Amino acid sequence: MTVTTTDNWEDIQAASIQVLGEEIAQRITRCRQEPHPQSQLIHILQQVQLKFGYLGRAQINAVAQLMQVPAAKVSGVASFYHLFRLKPRGRFMIHVCMGTACYVKGADRIAQRLKEELGIEWSETSSDGVFTLEGSRCLGTCGLAPVLMVDDQIHGNVTPDEVPLILEEYLQRARETEPEKPAQSAVAGEA
Ligand code: FES
Repeated sequence: MTVTTTDNWEDIQAASIQVLGEEIAQRITRCRQEPHPQSQLIHILQQVQLKFGYLGRAQINAVAQLMQVPAAKVSGVASFYHLFRLKPRGRFMIHVCMGTACYVKGADRIAQRLKEELGIEWSETSSDGVFTLEGSRCLGTCGLAPVLMVDDQIHGNVTPDEVPLILEEYLQRARETEPEKPAQSAVAGEA
């Protein structure tokens, strides 16, 4: 998509709405009418991440434009809080429990097998964009240790040899479904 550069506020506003969507743009408009709009910034960023799965440069710039705060401030807030993801996540999030019960039952071997199969390290996304790998504290199902969770689906008593089978199950789902793609940016100054 062609990136346009403009200094016209209406064009910038329209481009920002295109990036974020009408619903989030309207939320920003409403929060700007409140006494301390910047206090809503984290909440707005949460909504954006919920929609797109991460906060990319395009989304950060669009939020900054519509809230009329410097992009550096929005970027700083997004970088500061661990709950925000600044890179696209995979179609599926894999959380490997590294809590005590899982660790003593071989969670490190499960994690190692996942890293080998996917060719990634912690917090990285597989080259096909299907999986993002994260370590996790206790997932609350210690009786099933070792445990991994794919999105909200728990897999218990996992062995290293079961890892490829579990991955294949989700690869099959990924082939059958198309994820939502984030809108491209047309915001002025977008890198
Ligand atoms: S330690 Fe892994 S589920 Fe509790």
